[in-house]
Amino acid sequence: MRTDTGHVFKLTDYKPTDFVVERIDLTFELDPKATMVVSRVILHRREGVGTDVPLVLDGDELTLDSLLIDGMEIDASLYDATPDSLTIRDLPESAPFEITVTTTLSPETNTKLMGLYRTNGVYCTQCESEGFRRITYFYDRPDVLAVYTVTIIASKDETKQLLSNGNFLGGGNYDEGRHFAAWFDPHPKPSYLFALVGGDLGLVEDTFTTMSGREVALKIYVEHGKEPRAAYAMDALKRSMKWDEEMFGREYDLDIFQIVAVSDFNMGAMENKGLNVFNDKYVLADPETATDADYANIEAIIAHEYFHNWTGNRITCRDWFQLCLKEGLTVYRDHAFSADQRSAPVKRIAEIRLLKAHQFPEDAGPLAHPVRPETYREINNFYTATVYEKGSEVVRMIRTILGADAFRKGMDLYFERHDGDAATIEDFIACFAEASGRDLKQFALWYSQAGTPSVSVSSEWNDTKKTFKVTLEQSLAPTPGQSRKALMHIPLAYGLILPDGSEFEGQPTGGEASGGVIHLTKRKQTFTFSDVPGRPVVSINRGFSAPVNIAMEQSPEDLAHISRHESDGVARWQALNDYATRHLVAASRLARDGRNLMPAGDLADVLIATAKDETLEPAFRAQALALPAESDIAREIGSNIDPDAIHTAREAVLAEVARAGQDVFTTLAASAAKGAYSPDATAAGQRALAGVSMSYASIAEAAADRAKAAFDAADNMTVLAQALQVLAHQFPGADETQDALESFKSRYAENPLVLDKWYSTQAMAPGSSTCDRVEELLASPDFDHTNPNRVRALIGAFTAGNPTGFNRADGAGYRLLARQVVEIDGRNPQLAARLLTAMRSWRSLEPGRQEQARLALLSIRDAGKLSADVSDIVERMLAA
Ligand code: PHE
Ligand code: ZN
Repeated sequence: MRTDTGHVFKLTDYKPTDFVVERIDLTFELDPKATMVVSRVILHRREGVGTDVPLVLDGDELTLDSLLIDGMEIDASLYDATPDSLTIRDLPESAPFEITVTTTLSPETNTKLMGLYRTNGVYCTQCESEGFRRITYFYDRPDVLAVYTVTIIASKDETKQLLSNGNFLGGGNYDEGRHFAAWFDPHPKPSYLFALVGGDLGLVEDTFTTMSGREVALKIYVEHGKEPRAAYAMDALKRSMKWDEEMFGREYDLDIFQIVAVSDFNMGAMENKGLNVFNDKYVLADPETATDADYANIEAIIAHEYFHNWTGNRITCRDWFQLCLKEGLTVYRDHAFSADQRSAPVKRIAEIRLLKAHQFPEDAGPLAHPVRPETYREINNFYTATVYEKGSEVVRMIRTILGADAFRKGMDLYFERHDGDAATIEDFIACFAEASGRDLKQFALWYSQAGTPSVSVSSEWNDTKKTFKVTLEQSLAPTPGQSRKALMHIPLAYGLILPDGSEFEGQPTGGEASGGVIHLTKRKQTFTFSDVPGRPVVSINRGFSAPVNIAMEQSPEDLAHISRHESDGVARWQALNDYATRHLVAASRLARDGRNLMPAGDLADVLIATAKDETLEPAFRAQALALPAESDIAREIGSNIDPDAIHTAREAVLAEVARAGQDVFTTLAASAAKGAYSPDATAAGQRALAGVSMSYASIAEAAADRAKAAFDAADNMTVLAQALQVLAHQFPGADETQDALESFKSRYAENPLVLDKWYSTQAMAPGSSTCDRVEELLASPDFDHTNPNRVRALIGAFTAGNPTGFNRADGAGYRLLARQVVEIDGRNPQLAARLLTAMRSWRSLEPGRQEQARLALLSIRDAGKLSADVSDIVERMLAA
């Protein structure tokens, strides 16, 4: 295992390689235990690099079988090979030379799922971020671009398809029942985009004609028998290709685009050039086995990986500090795609919810880091909500500041100027500054300063002068390694809503404001609106134009006024959500102090009115009815958190709303679209509204039979899974629940992805007894400890999705996680480290739980022989 060296990599240490790679030619002879890899690389010494400087290549757990220079063996004194590096001395001064490196790998025993491994009999590689060095010695860094030729040899019977990046060159029979295939990728690429797949898989095929009239073969490989479940992914792929042409002018650049779905994968999917590898969870769907949320994820991730072909592959990153250059931008692009394919406001609401649920806590805790980190010990720990989601918000802000036209010009310039480059954030920003003529220096702080800025807002109405003043003040708390912060450029979209519900159009004085956006660039600024006909209500940070926390004392009446009159659907939801959050926070505080809760009558009225309002789209009404989660309430409270009190308060409010609106919910629960299932956004929205209404109606009735009837009658997974969840979470002891769980399990015993839902539903059942149930499930025979999806479905769902269960006051939940992290770390460090991040907010708990959490973290730290991945996380979490 690559254990912790404690080495800290720094952005400021960047230096190009001493040698330049010209091309690479790889040959693989696949075998489960002894795959032979021959790598021939042509290099030359970079100009100005002294002849005494050796070539030093990266490795990870490698053994060198042989080394040739220009086809000849060299004296052993001229090189050193260790598991993690190969050093060669005395190389030519300036002439190109070829090295031939032979290594042998054991894919079958590679449990880290990095490098070349086997999953369900399929050979597959994962090279981002530093997996290529587990295959051969190479410059395994993103700024080394090379043209790859790949030859794969394998047994004909077991390994029918032999795939790699680029275009197919040819293939045929080899020797003794073996065959071969050769691939050539004309586009220079970094090693992290290399991929190889060998297996006996089912194939779904289609074609796409690009904007210039070229026909591209599209192929999706899945396990035999699962071909029909790849149809939606194929459809999403074609829509993505078309959309990128229309919206960004980006055309695909090879004759073939392939996707392979595998069942053991550490992440969602991987954008290898021309050969994407996917976690099968994000490819396979049909109405019987996938929920509406699964369909939406598949669409988004297929698009995301496809969009990387330009933002990531054609233009890649100079070093891993620039990860957000490809990830933030590509998330921005997949968000825009989904918004266009579905309802834009509903999509935006879901994004805001996710950002606040995952990224805000990261930014507020010990793992906080800038969108572009400046140091790291283990880069795998930086595939975070901050790099991805906040990185996307930063791109979105650029568009808000520049406007759509200048933004597109900046993107065009970026593609034109940097095609073929390994670029930096500075390169990216310069394109927008140039295209718009705007100075983006202050704005660029969004990439370097960690933490969520706070903006406090106050207003003053002068009824005689008819002026309205809005005062904004920004602050940014210290984060690890950054004790002092500079002032940010925060673009805040806003609206002034007049008493009659119309919007005030006049522009303010006091700073830059145009096109409905106020630019907060100083610590404190007052914007004055004149000739305002009546006292307006300000709706600020409309559509979540900036990822900040707004502190504003707005009365419930004002929030209700916004939620009634806002023309912008997202802002309307924001007002409702703020209103609900404020109530739930107050109720949670009362519950913690053992006091009676205040009535939720007004909140219930607004929610029920929204539920009934047929002028609003069903998906929006469903979002409005989904109260802020327990974790949202905890985040707002911020410190001394008692998860049980939050749960008690939230359940009480839910029950009150449910009883007050029982008739409405009962009607809506029965309103789901009839007829054949369709995954489109409108039908999904109707199911979402019916589903949340069914949940409220069941709460009002305090009986399991409605959910059980829905479960029995369900003809698609969305309704079935929703019913199972209501049963397991609201009526854990009921016979109906036991029946449903058993029938679900036996019905889907042969379908791992669906069985994952059975595990996660139980893992998320609130209450202190779930911890024991999770222990039981961990010990059950069909719990596959090596499959990341299964591990996440049980342990991940429990620790990240069950506040009362995981934060059990006696610390049993933390101890369970600690034991699992140490055990999993021995097999798959990346998975272990990611699971552990569920404890990132431990310091905001009440003292008793905080102490239990600290002890659990110490038990991990002291377990010995940790991977670099886990030790990096645990040490950052414990640092004061
Ligand atoms: N680059 C992948 C993406 O599209 C994520 C990933 C990172 C996958 C590392 C595997 C390993 O976001
Ligand atoms: Zn990505």
